[in-house]
Amino acid sequence: MRIFLDTANVDQIRQGVKLGIVSGVTTNPSLISKEGLADYKAVVKAICKIVPGPVSAEVVVEGVEPMIEQARDIATWASNVVIKIPATTDGLEVISVLSKEDIKINMTLCFSLNQALLGALAGATYVSSFVGRLDDIGHDGMELVRDIVDVFEYYQLTTEVIAASIRHPEHCVVAAKAGAHIATVPYKVLMQMIQHPLTDAGVTRFLADWQRVSQK
Ligand code: E4P
Repeated sequence: MRIFLDTANVDQIRQGVKLGIVSGVTTNPSLISKEGLADYKAVVKAICKIVPGPVSAEVVVEGVEPMIEQARDIATWASNVVIKIPATTDGLEVISVLSKEDIKINMTLCFSLNQALLGALAGATYVSSFVGRLDDIGHDGMELVRDIVDVFEYYQLTTEVIAASIRHPEHCVVAAKAGAHIATVPYKVLMQMIQHPLTDAGVTRFLADWQRVSQK
């Protein structure tokens, strides 16, 4: 399972990329506005330069034609940009049109197997299954990831499954076991993934023991 960072914070992206394990980034309008970033194009271009892989940027208009027009424009901003299109009826039409133009699409706000299947049939490169938001309303968000992975595998669909709306490290564990191709994680969760108190205690103990012997 590959790891994407789910953020529009350039410092966090730089830090994550430095670790050598971040292979992409997903943003959304809420994440962009959280950073107080007004120049959408400049921000996305800056992120695309830092990241050695796909960077998802979402359309921020409604309707088939406006979405197609905006997506075509965003697609010119960088060679590694991926356009996020919502899993709606209009979105499906947009995905079908753009995928034929070789524009990479991440079908976002995916909350059902049917939405994911239709997105794949329309030619989406990725579908983002929103785990945390399903958990929030009393569903098992990861069950959906599992189902999408199984069905895509069964029908040999090449669309990759992104486990999105990840809230804690255990989500990443379950997403990996479910066979998600990618988990897109907030920076805080990425940091939590590497941390373990026994590792810290072990390092402290090893160094202390080494000090003792090396000072003899
Ligand atoms: C995915 O691409 C979305 O940006 C993100 O995972 C949404 O997460 P949230 O439900 O925590 O807002």
